[in-house]
Amino acid sequence: MGRQHVGHGDIARFAQERVNLPKDKADDYRAQVRRLRDRLETYLDEHPDFSLKKMQLSGSLAKGTALRSLNDVDVACYISGADAPTGVAALLTYLAERLRKAFPNFKPDQVQPQTYSVTVSFRGTGLDVDVVPILYDGDPDRYGKLVSQDDGSLLSTSVPRHLEFIRKRKAAQEKHFAQVARLVKFWAGTMKRDREGFRFKSFMIEMILAHLCDQGLDFSDYPEALQHFFTYIARTNMRKQLVFSDYYKLAAVGSFAEPVQLIDPVNAKNNVSHLYTAAQAEMIVAAALDAGDAIDAALAAPTKQETVAYWQKVFGSSFQV
Ligand SMILES: Nc1ncnc2c1ncn2[C@@H]1O[C@H](COP(=O)(O)OP(=O)(O)OP(=O)(O)O)[C@@H](O)[C@H]1O
Ligand SMILES: [Mg+2]
Repeated sequence: MGRQHVGHGDIARFAQERVNLPKDKADDYRAQVRRLRDRLETYLDEHPDFSLKKMQLSGSLAKGTALRSLNDVDVACYISGADAPTGVAALLTYLAERLRKAFPNFKPDQVQPQTYSVTVSFRGTGLDVDVVPILYDGDPDRYGKLVSQDDGSLLSTSVPRHLEFIRKRKAAQEKHFAQVARLVKFWAGTMKRDREGFRFKSFMIEMILAHLCDQGLDFSDYPEALQHFFTYIARTNMRKQLVFSDYYKLAAVGSFAEPVQLIDPVNAKNNVSHLYTAAQAEMIVAAALDAGDAIDAALAAPTKQETVAYWQKVFGSSFQV
């Protein structure tokens, strides 16, 4: 049967070879961000009134869920309130101008405002760093207003708490939580390429996996864990509200009108999936049903060739064993 042809070990190997960001690269990129952060700290020591207060690695490289296809490094930059402009375009111009001040060894054109972030480009090796502003007035839990990378709106949230939220699930399912997250993100990437209009935000994927983890699902068998993820989506139709009680009481969760309601684990009033339409939710459900069927068929297929062909429906033609 199919499991002999492609089993957990084969999926794990595929992940190592094709899906995951290699560790030496991840280390390099993290070091690159550390140097930026240190340089800002040095500048702040000499200019304590400077409005950029802190830089912090955020996004997949911070969570340990980055894919090999990573093409920029997300860094949050805390900007203290009073004289920062409130409009997003002006805020980005302001942030770029401040970053140029703090990093004088960068040429001005290496620091460029984009639509919702500022890119710092490194010459030679290294990836571009995407600096995302967070308006911040000293909250001890580092809540602030994060500029949404989806539509430029200001989201009240805490990046360190997000990292802690993920870290907790990673500790519960060591190695496997992050690995299954990367595999699902890889599947979503394949769907984005193949199906016009498909979208599925990484953080939403991680939240659903966190929920399954909290329910006690064992992630250590990858075909099975993937199957559970797809089944959850099919069963809930992406219409079940998802909430977490790590940082607020469930009673604090308001009512939302949007079709998809994955509520920010650190802010009961923020629907992480508020931009998803009913049609987009249906595309996710349809893709999950197809993936679930393909895995069932793969696990039952009589020959290796057929088994691989079914797995390719999930992970694309780069899937080989
Ligand atoms: N709608 C949102 N509300 C609150 N925080 C958000 C929202 N969108 C993104 N974030 C924050 O930004 C971080 C990065 O976003 P996201 O998970 O989509 O990308 P990523 O982890 O960098 O994955 P990718 O590999 O796709 O770049 C999240 O971990 C979260 O801290
Ligand atoms: Mg990212």
